[in-house]
This record gives sequence, C-alpha cells and structure tokens, in this order.
Amino acid sequence: MSRTHEFDVLIIGSGAAGMTAALHLANDFDVALLSKSALGEGSTRWAQGGIATVVDPEDTLEAHVEDTLIAGAGLCHRDTVEQVVAESRTSIQWLIQQGVPFTPAETYSDLRNACDSNPLPYHLTREGGHSHRRILHADDATGLAITNTLADKIRQHPRITLFEQHLAVDLITRHKLGLPGQACVGAYVLNNLTQKVQAFSAHSVILATGGASKVYLYTSNPDGSSGDGIAMAWRAGCSVANMEFNQFHPTCLYHPKAKSFLITEAVRGEGGLLTLPDGQRFMHQFDERAELAPRDIVARAIDHEMKRYGLDHVYLDISHKGEAFCREHFPTIYQRCLEFGIDMAKEPLPVVPAAHYTCGGIVTGPQGQTDIPGLYAIGECAFTGLHGANRMASNSLLECVVYGRLATQHLREHYPQAPLPQPRPWDESQVTDSDEDVVISHNWDEIRRFMWDYVGIVRTDKRLERALHRIKLLQSEIHDYYANYRISGDLLELRNLATVAELIIRSALLRKESRGLHYTLDYPEPAAEARDTLLTPPRW
Ligand code: FAD
Ligand code: SIN
Repeated sequence: MSRTHEFDVLIIGSGAAGMTAALHLANDFDVALLSKSALGEGSTRWAQGGIATVVDPEDTLEAHVEDTLIAGAGLCHRDTVEQVVAESRTSIQWLIQQGVPFTPAETYSDLRNACDSNPLPYHLTREGGHSHRRILHADDATGLAITNTLADKIRQHPRITLFEQHLAVDLITRHKLGLPGQACVGAYVLNNLTQKVQAFSAHSVILATGGASKVYLYTSNPDGSSGDGIAMAWRAGCSVANMEFNQFHPTCLYHPKAKSFLITEAVRGEGGLLTLPDGQRFMHQFDERAELAPRDIVARAIDHEMKRYGLDHVYLDISHKGEAFCREHFPTIYQRCLEFGIDMAKEPLPVVPAAHYTCGGIVTGPQGQTDIPGLYAIGECAFTGLHGANRMASNSLLECVVYGRLATQHLREHYPQAPLPQPRPWDESQVTDSDEDVVISHNWDEIRRFMWDYVGIVRTDKRLERALHRIKLLQSEIHDYYANYRISGDLLELRNLATVAELIIRSALLRKESRGLHYTLDYPEPAAEARDTLLTPPRW
C-alpha cells in the first residue's frame, strides 16, 4: 500500500458544497479536497436555473419560507427552512465576492427590471413553486459560472491540496481501527490513475459527494451521482432519512443523442407551455398553478398524459416568445438544441421527466454534523430537513453554499486536538484481478432499469416488494464480487448504487401514504400526520 496522506480536514467532493467549505477553511487549516473525476464535474456544473434568494422589494423572507414549506408537502423542518432562508443573502453575497458573474438586472430589454431599487442589482427569474421572481442566475448556466469561479480560487489556494481522479472507498473511524471512540479520522481512497488505494488521515471529514439520481435509468445528473457519500456514511454507522423522495425533473430533452440534457424550469417560468402532440395544454387540469406547479405535480401530470396516450414524450413550447428572447434568455439551451436539429424559437421541444435530485440523505444537525463525531455531510448528500417531500427549484445550490459555511463554523469550534491514529494498510492479499467485468455493467443496468420501472414516479407495494427482492439478490452477488476481486471505480460505484437503491426501496415501503414525490396507487392520500422516514444502520 502507498503512504498515508495526513491533513487537518478531508473534504470528499468538490461541487458547490465541497468547494464552499474548502474556501471557508483554507486560511486556517490544511485541506485535502477530493474529486472522483476532474474538479467541478458533479451536478453543480450542470445547474441551469439558478439560486434562490429574496431580492425583489415586493418579496419577503416569510414568502420564501412559506413557498418552500408548501412545495415540501408538510415534511420540511420549519426551523431548517427559516435558517437557510435567513442565511441566503449572506451566502449569495459571498458568491458575488468570489466573483460569480450573475446576470445583471439591465440585461434583458423585454422585462421590467425586477430589482431596480435593490442592493443586489441582478436579474431575477422565476421557477415552479416560487410566488415571486427570486432566482439569481448566470444566463442559463449558473452552475458552470459558480464552478469556474470557485475552482479558480481553489486552484490558487496554497493550503488546499486538490486530488482529482481520487475516489473515496470507505470512511475510517476509530471504532474500525479497534480504538475507543467512534470519531471519523479519514478515508480509504482509490487513485483512479494508479488503481492504488491510499489512506487519508484527517481530524475532520466532510462528505460533499452529491446525490444518487444515477440509480435511475433516465436522469438529468452526470455519471458520478451514484450516492457514494450516502452509502459510505451508512456503512460507517450514520442514519439516513427520507430516501424515498427522489425528485423527477419534468423536462429533460427527449432525443436519442441528448444524454441527460435538462431544459430549465426557468423556461416555464418565462412563459413556456407544456402541450400534447396536438398542441393542447394539459397542466391546468392537474393544478391551478399549471406549468408553475411544484415539480412533483408537473412530473406526475406528464407521466399520466404519456401513459394515457401512449406517448414517448410531451412538448415544451416557448416558440411564441421569438428568437431574440430565446437566444437572450437561454443561450446554452438554444445552442444545444440547435445542435440536435431543434430550433426552440420555431418549434416545441420534446421533453420527458428524469430523475434529478435526492431529497433525502445523511441525517445532519443544524451545522451539518452527522451521527459520527468529526464527520459532516453537506450539499445534496445531506438530509437537513430543508426540502421535505419535494425540493423547490433553486433551493439546493443555496443549501450547498449555506451549509458549506455553517459546517465549517462548527468544525472550527469543535476541532479535535487528539493525535491522529495510524490507519491499517488496505489489504489486497485475498483478491485477484476481475476477469468478468460484464457482471459489473450488467448489474449497473439491471438496478437502474428496475428502479425506473418499479420505484419511479408512480409506485405500488407490489412493485416495491419486487424491487426489494431483486436488490437483495444483486447485493449478495456484488458483495461476493467485492470480496474476491481487486476494486475499480465502476465496482465501487455499483456497490454504492446498490446500497442507495436498497435504502430508497425500504424507505418507500415504510411510507403508507402519498405525499410530495412519493406517490403510491395503494395509498393515494396523504396521512393525517407528516413524518420523516428514518433508517438507522445496524451499529457495531
Ligand atoms: P455535486 O455538485 O454533485 O458534486 C459532487 C462531488 O463529489 C463531485 O466533485 C464528485 O466528483 C465528488 N464525489 C462523489 N463521490 C465521490 C467519491 N466517492 N470520492 C471522491 N469524490 C466523490 N439546483 C439549484 O439550486 N438550481 C439549479 O438551477 C439547479 N439545476 C440543476 C440542473 C441539473 C442538470 C442538475 C443535475 C442539478 C441541478 N440542480 C440545481 C441541483 C444542484 O445542482 C445540485 O443539488 C448541487 O449542485 C449538488 O452540489 P453538491 O456539491 O452537493 O454535489
Ligand atoms: C432547473 O433549472 O430547472 C433546475 C433547477 C433546480 O433543479 O433547482
């Protein structure tokens, strides 16, 4: 085994959450920042719509809180929502100070300047569930602007050591080393380039590994969203909550070559209409807010219409706004669609729902603390109570930046002083090289397909039981494979995906009601009392 790396803080994941935490810590601590591919290749980079905060003088913090609670269908934790909304202005000011180029208010000729008299002179767009224009954005590529800005700072910081192509395998706790206490003291990490596993020791560890939407066949997420942090935390002894609430974004482009290309909700916010092939609108039959109803309602309505008429997709039409508007407001989408031969200024876009966001995750306290001392979880991998049964659009980048800062405050105040224990070397003596990689690719496909079919937008107990049976068989196969063959990135992700799939299915089976993103034909109504689904791992 290669040498052990030693740092004050190990941050696993370099999206909006991980980079924010790294930049808040690096003046005082030596930080290792891991990315399992290139820096900034997570979901953050692909975020289009923007980041929510109250700016319009006609808007209020209370309205942002209320809208979030309504979208969350009774399951949001009010104290968390209030905390995040209250912290939002500070967090966005921090992004602006770092240099994120949000679109200025005067950019668009066609719209009233929504924040004329405001200290933040930026254009605000609108998305589903928001009662006001409240979304700051950088054209239609907000995540890219945030990623590029923060990544530049990360690369320049002398106390941040960046490890790209490094994939965390498992957390190291004192308990696992046979020492008294349960604190997290590092992680085993696979170097994707050398295929060697190294131990990273650290006084504190922050999980910022993003979501798990890759568990579904169709997703808006990039390849790395395999729920690694959630699975690692679960194996280490952390509870998880509300894993049944996986959000399906209503509008991904339907085109054989458009892998995972999202059409931002801001298109509907700016007047885009959902239609059937004959041009008829249908959303008003499902909700009076029509195209701007919360995402769970819109995705379910599209699913319903597709099944009713046997369609492969529905349409999203903004062509009535004309070419100048489309080019100006949605330059990235306009260009990308043209590459697929579709001119959104002249014709409707074919769209389908796809898995988009993991609302549940590792249970955390008000500053990102997990059940394990010294271990924090922030961003999409965490369950803070903000999103409830359905995340409101553009609240998740906000959550990343808010908790990226709050967790570092807690970490500073509770920084452990004890000397770091020496981790055991990674043992490869019992394993050989795999000669059957097809097992991995087959199992990947199988999980993602049955999760889509049995644990998707509409569920039943029977489908969930079937999925549970399948996942147990696959898990025992994956476990054998893991025990006998040298690990690879694909195998690690498969193992994590299987764990997360099991957590989603078990959580879904426990929820005997329909609420927000969890809709089951067996219990179509919400229960009288809204409760989180908490799963606790068998502890040592
Ligand atoms: P990510 O940005 O996903 O980063 C995860 C990081 O963890 C990556 O660096 C990855 O390499 C690393 N990682 C994962 N596993 C390991 C491992 N085992 N070892 C080492 N590193 C690991 N939200 C909004 O608020 N507004 C939007 O407009 C918006 N638009 C979106 C559009 C798209 C297409 C998508 C997919 C999501 C969108 N979201 C949006 C959601 C939002 O982008 C994500 O929730 C958020 O970016 C998650 O950030 P994160 O830092 O938690 O994780
Ligand atoms: C979008 O732009 O539609 C995505 C916004 C989000 O997921 O918050």
